[in-house]
Amino acid sequence: MCGIAGYVGPRPAVEVVFDQLKRLEYRGYDSAGVAFPHEGRIGILKRAGRLSGLASLIEEQHPPEVPVAIAHSRWATHGAPTDLNAHPHYDQDGTIALIHNGIIENYLELKAELARHGHTFQSETDSEVAAHVIGEAHKSGLSLFEAVRTSLPKFKGAFAFVVVSTIEPDRIVCARNASPLVVGLGEGENMLASDVPALIPYTRQVWSMPEETVAELTRETVRAVDKNNRNVPIETMTIDWDVESAEKGGYPHFMLKEIHEQPDVARSCLAGRLSEDNRVSLEGVFSDHVWQEIDRVNIIACGTAYHAGLMGKHLFERMLRLPTDVFYSSEFRYGDPLLSDRSLAIFISQSGETADSLAALRLCKARRIRTLGIVNVVGSAIARECDKVIYTQAGPEISVASTKAYTAQCLVLMLLGLWIAQQREMPGVRVTEAVHELRAWPDLAQEALTREDAIKELAVRWKDVPLVFFLGRNADAAVALEAALKLKEIAYIPTQEGPAGEMKHGPLALIEPGVLSVFGGTDSDVRDKVASNIREVQARGGHALVVTTDDDTEIHQFGDGVIRVPGGKVPFLTALMSVVPLQLLAYHMAVARGCDVDQPRNLAKSVTVE
Ligand code: M6R
Repeated sequence: MCGIAGYVGPRPAVEVVFDQLKRLEYRGYDSAGVAFPHEGRIGILKRAGRLSGLASLIEEQHPPEVPVAIAHSRWATHGAPTDLNAHPHYDQDGTIALIHNGIIENYLELKAELARHGHTFQSETDSEVAAHVIGEAHKSGLSLFEAVRTSLPKFKGAFAFVVVSTIEPDRIVCARNASPLVVGLGEGENMLASDVPALIPYTRQVWSMPEETVAELTRETVRAVDKNNRNVPIETMTIDWDVESAEKGGYPHFMLKEIHEQPDVARSCLAGRLSEDNRVSLEGVFSDHVWQEIDRVNIIACGTAYHAGLMGKHLFERMLRLPTDVFYSSEFRYGDPLLSDRSLAIFISQSGETADSLAALRLCKARRIRTLGIVNVVGSAIARECDKVIYTQAGPEISVASTKAYTAQCLVLMLLGLWIAQQREMPGVRVTEAVHELRAWPDLAQEALTREDAIKELAVRWKDVPLVFFLGRNADAAVALEAALKLKEIAYIPTQEGPAGEMKHGPLALIEPGVLSVFGGTDSDVRDKVASNIREVQARGGHALVVTTDDDTEIHQFGDGVIRVPGGKVPFLTALMSVVPLQLLAYHMAVARGCDVDQPRNLAKSVTVE
């Protein structure tokens, strides 16, 4: 999720890579740095904060005009956003400098092994460990290219590396495994970046590096091999996007880009948290006895994060039989809440800066209640102030309407639920089965996204409805709330949402011809009940759009329209899958109505005021 830039050629390389980083500024970051080989050593300039901080540092230090440089803007995953944790990182003696995007899952093991051989580390990052591993291989006599190539099997996880060396100062070597890297080819110059917008001012000839490839860039050449050391052809494409569409990865809006990022976000969120023996391993949570002691969970959040909390309540009560309440932060803080000493307060927040959630957190701290954050932005206020924190690892979310943060929050809640079940030794909870299903979730989400055209047709068909109900039972009822929020905030269509069984207690009065009801029907245990609710709506002239699973043979026949999702054996995860097409439905309805999708009226991305 970090920004990466690299340049080799006749232009002043430090200036070029800084300019490339600026072109990635829209993605968000918390620190930045640059490295350049010069006169037998590698210079590194790096600083926490905005790019203007790095700009001042470069101005103060006057780096020489050099032909090779690499640069990085960090979006923290391991270690707070500080100068020391910023990239690039040296190896043990400064022979190489490395920048990294992604997560190295086994870095603690590697770090311990290196420490046994006398290595010392300046930062808390997983990335510095990779620099040390590759540096050792290089100093043993391997070329930089071979050092990177032969070190790769040692790293578990998703990553892209970019490395420069004092021994071969005329080149850049890079490797990719899951995290994206694109190489730009010019006349007598070559360059690379994590995203196309960084390259556009310099070249339009771009090669997108395939998975598990190592490449070497000099002024005149680019070569690459795969993991079996076979040559990989450099197949370039000509980029004709303008800068704005390049920033959105070719998607018309950040929201659509972020919806499509969800399979990768899920992979990143689960990375390093599922063990080979199908258990959950969570860093950053309380020690074992705390999980035995807790008698109640209070989840506190706003907006989409609150809706993720409702999913958490459903899961914790069903799976763990652990009483769980969910509060809007703004209500909690003024509600004089009853809090038991043995309770745990969980704060869910994408930004980690939401004012109401922060105030509620401080109230819990004042009452000495244990607090756990589920947060996306590393080093944010909520992450800093909670006793413990689990990061969602969803990457920067730019669209005001939250999408990928929600799926990551729900996946973290699932991980946490399984973790608690493990700590409490609950034989009734089938952890192995759930871990299998979690592993499959990203690929199934990818499959769900391939069905976008059909959803777009439904969106166009119903774009002018005066009112949309979102209804469901069990976890589908919780997803209904999030789907409704998406539609109202970006398409400005009034919605009513909640449990399908409540309709006859009042809301049914609003059903009349033209009103659309979207029914979540992914849970086979209650499908017959949902089917009855569908008929109640249709009997009053309303339309029903049914969301169900691929293997459903019952409920789909009642719908005036049907959306199918790939399902599994864990209802929570199947219900969560159904949010993907519902995000797409809201998106395409908003586009069809001509709305400003990424910046809906009256709303801001981060609500730092009461
Ligand atoms: O950054 P947070 O997760 O704390 O933000 C909470 C809400 O402000 C946020 O989810 C908001 O509701 C979004 N616009 C929903 O799409």
